[in-house]
Amino acid sequence: MDHFLYRDGQLMAEDVPLAEIAAQVGTPFYVYSTATLERHYRVFQEALDGLDHLICYAMKANSNQAVLRTLARLGAGMDVVSGGEYARAQAAGVPGARIVFSGVGKTEGEMRTALTGGIRQFNVESEPELELLSRVAVAIGATAPIAIRVNPDVDARTHAKIATGKSENKFGIPIARAREVYARAAALPGIAVVGVDVHIGSQLTELEPYRAAFTRVAELVRALRADGHRIGRIDLGGGLGIPYEASNTAPPLPFDYGRVVRETVGDLDAEIEIEPGRLIAGNAGLLVSKVIYVKHGEGRDFLILDAAMNDLVRPAMYDAHHDIVPLVEPAPGVAPRPMDVVGPVCETGDTFARARNLPPLAAGDLVAFRSAGAYGAVMASEYNSRPLVPEVLVRGDQFAVVRARPSFDEMLSRDTIPHWLE
Ligand code: LLP
Repeated sequence: MDHFLYRDGQLMAEDVPLAEIAAQVGTPFYVYSTATLERHYRVFQEALDGLDHLICYAMKANSNQAVLRTLARLGAGMDVVSGGEYARAQAAGVPGARIVFSGVGKTEGEMRTALTGGIRQFNVESEPELELLSRVAVAIGATAPIAIRVNPDVDARTHAKIATGKSENKFGIPIARAREVYARAAALPGIAVVGVDVHIGSQLTELEPYRAAFTRVAELVRALRADGHRIGRIDLGGGLGIPYEASNTAPPLPFDYGRVVRETVGDLDAEIEIEPGRLIAGNAGLLVSKVIYVKHGEGRDFLILDAAMNDLVRPAMYDAHHDIVPLVEPAPGVAPRPMDVVGPVCETGDTFARARNLPPLAAGDLVAFRSAGAYGAVMASEYNSRPLVPEVLVRGDQFAVVRARPSFDEMLSRDTIPHWLE
């Protein structure tokens, strides 16, 4: 459920007409709903109610500081994957004790930053990383709390580009080798084993892959404890999918995911960590765009928007579907027409949808891409020298620009001219 509904024929973000934001901010822009973000966070809280747990929001999904603060105020921890994300989490007031650090390529500098600034745990993905972390920790006289990310060799049955739990993927340590690597970790100076970590992929639409992975993790936890390790935390990663198409069957609910968690790892007397990103932010955001032209092509019509693949890359990158709806509610009985929805960027990949049935639209009309709150703004680029799209946060009847659209001057000022070209 989200808070983007039609009221009196107008698409609203909570109590703010989106057209009003468009008039003030210009298009395209991203808009997020505070009530939806909070609701999604609470849905996970309720799903894990009664279990000792911490929700570490995967901030790669949407790392705007206003979004982070909204969640941090509710008690959320953060899952970070870079020094930049760590800095954002800190700036948003998240204490190190609630930050977990994931990723296969953590650098020495990132390790040092997190160890000095405070960290709940590193989710370690390889033996070389473990050795480096030990050296860095010893050098600064710190102890690095770690979980080892294990690869359970489970097929998440999602898009190949976002599946991470098969043995051929670059992620984690094969679960069969985990005990050996834990033994190595326990022997290293500057390292304190605190838990086990797993993440099998993103946009999962079934629970069975979770059940399979978590069952393997539970067996591993028992074996590791028998080996003498203190495994106090189990990080189950993120990945629960969201409904992108109003017309499709919805993915499992967090409540049912919570049941799988309880049934698989609930009796291990460990603190459960989860790292949801998409489910918290995805349906809490829209990308609003304006129709520039309606172009009649050969056998097809094109809706040319002022948003492009650089602003929302998911359709070009993963063939992802985003529902597209007009800001003015179509009158009942108006027949939709198939349109190819495209952006102004000079490549055919800049296509948001093919033969999408849409109500009649004209130049100047506004449309919204739904489910764009996660992996939208964060994956945007300035390709074609298009300034990054601004972001707006709504709360009730108020809204605030939480990232302004850069001017051309700001964009250009980041280049510098070497002396021989002056
Ligand atoms: N934890 C780890 C270690 C991850 O790698 C990810 C996502 C998450 C948590 C959060 O997963 P979520 O709950 O958001 O599914 N750009 C792609 C998605 C990439 C996901 C990468 N890892 C997309 O637009 O679909």
